[in-house]
Amino acid sequence: MSIQQEEQLIAKIQSIFPDESSILPEFQLPSLIHQTDYLVNGELRQWDGATEDAISCIYLKTSKGLEPKLIGSFPLLTKEAALDVLDAAVKAYDHGVGDWAMMPVAERIAHVQDFTYRMKSKRQEVVRLLMWEIGKSLADSYKEFDRTIDYIEDTIGALKDLDRANSRFIIEQGVIGQIRRSPLGVVLCLGPSNYPLNETFTTMIPALIMGNTVILKPSRPGTLLFRPLLEAFLESFPKGVVNTIYGKGREVASPIMASGRLDGFAFIGSSKAANALATLHPKPNRLRTILGLEAKNPAIILPDADLDLTVKECILGTLSFNGQRCTALKILFVHAQIIDQFLEKFSSALSNLKFGLPWDKDVSLTPLPEIDRPKYFTELVEDAKQFGAKVINAGGGTIEETFFYPAVLYPVTPEMRIYHEEQFGPVIPIATFEHLDTPLQYIVDSNYGQQVSIFGQDPDAIAQLVDRLVNQVARVNLNSQCQRGPDTFPFTGRKDSAEGTLSVTDALRSFSIRSLVAAKEKEENKKLLTTIVREHKSNFLSTDFIL
Ligand code: G3H
Repeated sequence: MSIQQEEQLIAKIQSIFPDESSILPEFQLPSLIHQTDYLVNGELRQWDGATEDAISCIYLKTSKGLEPKLIGSFPLLTKEAALDVLDAAVKAYDHGVGDWAMMPVAERIAHVQDFTYRMKSKRQEVVRLLMWEIGKSLADSYKEFDRTIDYIEDTIGALKDLDRANSRFIIEQGVIGQIRRSPLGVVLCLGPSNYPLNETFTTMIPALIMGNTVILKPSRPGTLLFRPLLEAFLESFPKGVVNTIYGKGREVASPIMASGRLDGFAFIGSSKAANALATLHPKPNRLRTILGLEAKNPAIILPDADLDLTVKECILGTLSFNGQRCTALKILFVHAQIIDQFLEKFSSALSNLKFGLPWDKDVSLTPLPEIDRPKYFTELVEDAKQFGAKVINAGGGTIEETFFYPAVLYPVTPEMRIYHEEQFGPVIPIATFEHLDTPLQYIVDSNYGQQVSIFGQDPDAIAQLVDRLVNQVARVNLNSQCQRGPDTFPFTGRKDSAEGTLSVTDALRSFSIRSLVAAKEKEENKKLLTTIVREHKSNFLSTDFIL
């Protein structure tokens, strides 16, 4: 790119934010959303305490210059209010004898189906809020909503299968048994801001459908997009089964955890925040933790890799949703024989990515949801430069308020922060290697162990790498970027990257425990069990089959 072209690119970046009047009406928010209620004990309770402004990551041109767009506000609950919410969830669970926990599986499924039906009607509202709150592109926002609906429907299917498989008695070594999965109790679900709807629901829906009662705390930003769903929760579930809290984690989540009354903790975010909360529980053995944490997934690019395909996957892997995915490729190790071609092709592919506002056609790169992120990325870039790396792409690292144009750093070495830190955004560190020991040792030494991508074509080399890496990370991707989906595949990680496993089927297990009824195979026991089953006296002891 010539100097003049680079200047034009920078000027374009610096005019990314529009006049409000130029935004098409279908993408504008019809009004400010001042949320003054929260869901507790089957009511939308009014909140007249402190609130927090919800500020969009999208800036607008005004007579005073660029100003961030205010989109509304949401409650900042106090410790007392949060503990009231906990009370409601504990009461609804009622030590496992509440209506929801005791309800036959088919009926619980019907409630979730009812919720899904109501949720579908909120698609446009939620998608619009995804764009304004976290800057996700229109296409990706629709994808997030639709993927969540699919996830719920697949979860219902998986639970039916599970229930069918458990609707029978087993006779083993003279013992008759029926084994089912039972709820854990009260579960706190904390969602992330990058997939605020999808990832929150991938823990909350399985927790609910298994008979737990739930307290949901959406991420900030990402709170308001749940507002259109509150009526659907209210109308679809018995009171106290779904409850919401808002505010600062240490104000509202810490006292709930410290009360010792929680049985499950689902959290997607940093291990530091997860551990700070989980360790507050006074009875740690009672708490089941299901955590999706940080990762620093590397790509290993071998000399015989198909470069066009590799670049395409690495662009997706590093920059989908601006690199703000736990599964993003966060460092690329490229073999020395092909590094020059790779850098050239990668920078050229990046320069073709469209940047702009979430609703712009075919946009890939959009503003970032937290105002201080560009500053952090600049720090990483400056630190790497100090140790000899260069930003090799035109315009790399240019900032306009919340927009950070991706910076490709090369050569990246172990002295640099970006070599180790999870950047979670559009800074792309590229390291080179002569011997495979370099990336392999990197993975062994890393605190994280989520996934890796290998690019190459030699079956012997790939097979050897696969066999080594499956014991280091939880998923090895061949000639493909790292990713969570399909949602029927297990999603987990080693070391500081996760606790527990999520997938459509695994999550049902994660939020439940196996309980069984057993009796010695004697005539009187057989008669007893037969009468209970034949006369439908128990929900648990039953051979009813959900169709
Ligand atoms: O942030 C982590 C997400 O689970 C990533 O999901 O790989 O489908 O984008 P994805």
